[in-house]
Amino acid sequence: PRKIILDCDPGHDDAVAIMLALASPELEVLGITTTYGNVGLERTTRNALVVQEVIGTSVGVYPGADRPLVRDRISAEAVHGISGLEGPALPQPRQQPRDKHAVHFIIESVLAHPGEVTLVPVGALTNLALAMRLEPRIVPAIREVVLMGGSIDVGNWSPSAEFNILCDPHAAKIVFEAGVPLVMMGLNLTHQTPATPERVARFRALSTRAGAFTAELLEFFQIHHQQRYGFPGAPIHDACAVAYLLEPALFKTGHYHVEIEANEGLAFGRTVCDYWRVTGKAPNCEVGLEVNAEGFYELLLERIGRYS
Ligand code: BDR
Ligand code: CA
Repeated sequence: PRKIILDCDPGHDDAVAIMLALASPELEVLGITTTYGNVGLERTTRNALVVQEVIGTSVGVYPGADRPLVRDRISAEAVHGISGLEGPALPQPRQQPRDKHAVHFIIESVLAHPGEVTLVPVGALTNLALAMRLEPRIVPAIREVVLMGGSIDVGNWSPSAEFNILCDPHAAKIVFEAGVPLVMMGLNLTHQTPATPERVARFRALSTRAGAFTAELLEFFQIHHQQRYGFPGAPIHDACAVAYLLEPALFKTGHYHVEIEANEGLAFGRTVCDYWRVTGKAPNCEVGLEVNAEGFYELLLERIGRYS
């Protein structure tokens, strides 16, 4: 199986990404690292444990950065509720977070398995940027970074910027300029995956705890997306990054030069994609363009259906 570290800020769609990854034998999840983001670090860390309590797994959860490198912290309680996982009843987690910082865990894991570890950040890129700065030897040893963030068109948290990148544009700049193999699943792709009421009903029809939990998460997550954007269902952004590792054939991608705007201004946090190749700069990023949404949901249902 492919070794991954899932770096997340759960978060409704992060929770689905965790469930998808931990149900998939093609992946060996070395650990789950957490960051501030949708809500504060204490809550995102707790939520990673809560999700595992629901599905009955015990992968180590390593708390990471509690704030961005330079800018002020932003958060998304308006989307995810005060807890970050509003909607379903949340069990008390029995496990504790591990007593090691996410950044140290990432560094140690990559150096222990050079060329083998894929990093899957689905929140702010602070942990990854800190790891690259603290131990530059990890950079050539990372197999690939497959992230959810950015967009090749409009943003969701500003007209230009997507939330995860806007959380820490300076960290994103470090990661995008590092020279590691990079895959970006941005809003232009993830918005193709609305969890419509029909799709939510299919999770509920699994008649399992994980199925009901997923349905309830998606129902709450939908409220904001319906009211704010008029979407037919909430996009399951973060699960797209994990699904790409499992079934790349579901995705159409293109290789482009993508640069991060880290100057504060109208485009702060934008992932500027040279779609028409006007700069002559060498591509540094495989960019998700299209996803077979039906296939994506079949994969999710089949995998989440594996939890008893
Ligand atoms: C991203 O922002 C967060 O709210 C979601 O979990 C996702 O990672 C979408 O912009
Ligand atoms: Ca997230």
